[in-house]
Amino acid sequence: MSAGESKPVVRADRYAVVGNPVAHSKSPYIHAQFALQTGERVEYDRLLAPLDGFVEHVQAFHAAGGRGLNVTVPFKLEAHALAHKLSPRAAAAGAVNTLRFDADGIFGDNTDGFGLVRDIEVNLGAALEGARVLLLGAGGAARGVVLPMLERRPREITIVNRTAPKAHALIEQFEGAAGEFGCLLNGGGPHAVDPNPYDVIVNATAGSLDAALPECDEHAFGARTLAYDMMYGAQHTVFMRHAEALGARAADGLGMLVEQAAESFFVWRGVRPEGAPVLAALRAQLAAQAA
Ligand code: ATR
Repeated sequence: MSAGESKPVVRADRYAVVGNPVAHSKSPYIHAQFALQTGERVEYDRLLAPLDGFVEHVQAFHAAGGRGLNVTVPFKLEAHALAHKLSPRAAAAGAVNTLRFDADGIFGDNTDGFGLVRDIEVNLGAALEGARVLLLGAGGAARGVVLPMLERRPREITIVNRTAPKAHALIEQFEGAAGEFGCLLNGGGPHAVDPNPYDVIVNATAGSLDAALPECDEHAFGARTLAYDMMYGAQHTVFMRHAEALGARAADGLGMLVEQAAESFFVWRGVRPEGAPVLAALRAQLAAQAA
């Protein structure tokens, strides 16, 4: 190129998180950090879609050159319906949190469960292989994590829900996969909790949103139990405080948020960023808010 000739402007590939509301999403910060870390030319925005306008907004973003989207509340089911092709984990979850616009159509994935597993195993150092796991809740959040947890070959997963038939429906859905991975899958209503300490207890109920504690036998919590709440906030959740008062180690869902984002980044770019430094930065931001 001769002097004075300007370089062609290569625009970064565009991604965004679509939701309603979306203003407080940490995903733009997380993905900006991942882009810096990996040197990938990525631009990442927030996309607020009206409740009745998800598909139109996704199509407009795609038509304008967008390469992929993270999907958050309340659009994960609509994203699942919109995708032309689904990953096995998205099909099992019945929900999609990651869309990628490929030449042959829209690919839908769900990285939430992978994010949970990676946070538990890598960031928190608790092995799921051979572990006894108690999963509290049987809604969309719980369904999204069952297959990725089964893939780690725990000894047993007990799914417990306030409304027992929903737990039974999940058990039925994943019975085949559990057999394949050599895992005992059981559960039901709150009385299905074994009054002996579990290795890992995951709170996938929406209880923490309104500071409600899901019913669970206190003997399920022991000194070697990791009690994991999928929610997070500047303060410990009620579930975390409850678990700690019973002697367990407690963790919130901030690491899951970062690790699901890292996996989405991998789905889009084929490059896997490091979650831990971004998690540490977010943790410091939350601590500053709490102070
Ligand atoms: P999500 O997509 O966040 O999982 P959802 O599909 O509405 O949301 O599921 C919410 C889950 O939280 C359900 O398991 C629900 O229990 P029910 O099926 O009995 O409704 C659970 N949940 C919500 N509030 C709860 C509370 N106060 N105590 C116990 N479980 C609660």
